[in-house]
Amino acid sequence: MLTVLRVDASARNERSLSRKLADKYIDALCRACPDADIVTRDVGSRPPPFVTEAWIAAAFKAPEDRSPHEQAVLEVSDQLIAEVKSADLIVVASPLYNYGMPATLKAWVDQIVRVGKTFDFDLARGDFPIEPMLSGKKLVVLTSSGEFGFAPGGIRQNQDHLTSHLQTVAKYIGAESVDVIRIEYQEFGDERHETSKNAAFQMAEAQGRKLGQLQAAA
Ligand SMILES: Cc1cc2nc3c(=O)[nH]c(=O)nc-3n(C[C@H](O)[C@H](O)[C@H](O)COP(=O)(O)O)c2cc1C
Repeated sequence: MLTVLRVDASARNERSLSRKLADKYIDALCRACPDADIVTRDVGSRPPPFVTEAWIAAAFKAPEDRSPHEQAVLEVSDQLIAEVKSADLIVVASPLYNYGMPATLKAWVDQIVRVGKTFDFDLARGDFPIEPMLSGKKLVVLTSSGEFGFAPGGIRQNQDHLTSHLQTVAKYIGAESVDVIRIEYQEFGDERHETSKNAAFQMAEAQGRKLGQLQAAA
């Protein structure tokens, strides 16, 4: 069975384009693969806590040395990591905020990229001491922006610190492939926005369906 973790990061609900894009993708996937198990984590509406000094101290201790209080400090992180671990596909639906990810999504990333749980640290590996512990997952990023030209080759390609950041952390959540679908021009609200939106919805429908079909046939 395919397990999908859907992470929503928009602060908006009904009006959110990234959430609508995720609805489209997941609906298409579920139509093609009705057995898929969809787990939803809405960090936009219910943000995870930020990492604190107490969190860091607890995370870097061996589990058997943690006090009950330190175990409690890591409870949210444990839960979020369990969701990532059990997922085959992670769908992140996120707006572009100030050229990067919303703080709520960054809080989620900081809770799940954790030593001894999702990555291993060993100085014996020289300049690259960090090794991911998870593998075999796919990451799909569904995003919306007010401006345009953030895709490779676009006029703002170097200003998209949302998908580039997620691509960098992808391997620490076990993702071996990253697909991105974007809606752009939201602030312009003109025909370019309509075209971008329609293309993104079509792509989400096609890619969701294809993945569902592949899974159903497996
Ligand atoms: C706090 C905030 C910051 C934003 N920063 C940017 C930005 O840097 N670049 C951009 O193109 N759009 C920016 N936007 C516009 C959003 O990316 C756009 O409205 C998008 O559709 C929001 O996603 P949503 O529809 O899923 O809520 C920003 C919007 C907000 C509310």
